[in-house]
Amino acid sequence: MIVIESVAQMQQFARERRGEIALVPTMGYLHEGHASLMTEARRRAKTVVVSIFVNPTQFGVNEDLDSYPRDLERDKKVAAAAGVDVIFAPKAADMYPEGYQSYLNVEELTTHLCGASRPGHFRGVTTVVAKLFNIVMPTLAVFGKKDFQQLAVIRRMVKDFNFDVEIVGMPIVREADGLALSSRNARLTPEQRIEALCLSRSIAAARDAFGKGERSVAVLKEKALAVIGAEKDAEVDYLEFRDQDSLLPLDEANERTLLALAVRVGSVRLIDNSVLGEE
Ligand code: PAJ
Repeated sequence: MIVIESVAQMQQFARERRGEIALVPTMGYLHEGHASLMTEARRRAKTVVVSIFVNPTQFGVNEDLDSYPRDLERDKKVAAAAGVDVIFAPKAADMYPEGYQSYLNVEELTTHLCGASRPGHFRGVTTVVAKLFNIVMPTLAVFGKKDFQQLAVIRRMVKDFNFDVEIVGMPIVREADGLALSSRNARLTPEQRIEALCLSRSIAAARDAFGKGERSVAVLKEKALAVIGAEKDAEVDYLEFRDQDSLLPLDEANERTLLALAVRVGSVRLIDNSVLGEE
């Protein structure tokens, strides 16, 4: 495994391997969720590139850009164990040099859910992913359903801008107790780590009611919200039942309905989701 920091060098490498590259974009502090994407990339392509870049353009002014966890030495071990060929870890000044002024925006899909709570977030995500596609020139890129809206937005971008990249979506990897793996979990205190279980438990409550035949979104929402309301330090940012394609609200839930939520536990904002009819 090699580590490439320079954009020019990455592009040179990509030119030589074009047609056989799978890309896994990440912000580092790698965990088993990221590793599952790398394993899938490894299975599907001859050359696997993992990008590690805490992308400043997708963080709002009052967000956790500075406190976002970073540990490249540890990340190298996780990536090597997953059979990664190249870590691409550019510097912000190389990705966004002085005079930088171009952004890509998916309009409608980004107005909902995380897009509503984090203005400009997805504009930063699509911009950096478009740049990574141009630098790494992958034939396929692997993303996690943990960030369900991000995956939908990227699929839309790829279609709308005719990127010749196949997008692969992978299931959410969870801890044994249900907590979805996230780099931000590292910032939870032991007490908050326990409270953070309310996200997966609220999903379980809604899924349980849905499984027993409940279809009213108002009722399902009430049941899911009650689980989070019972926690001292957990505050709901949003908890929504949406059509999984358009992300628009609905009154009646069905097998394809997405339950997506964002909850602040202390100062840490966590997200989780589930499609009601899926495992
Ligand atoms: P990051 O949060 O590091 O996530 C990188 C990828 O790992 C994303 O596709 C995300 O959905 C996936 N992932 C994270 N936790 C997961 C879990 N528990 N199970 C399965 N997949 C999981 O998402 C980003 O970085 C950035 O926005 C990025 C796309 C890299 C652009 O900067």
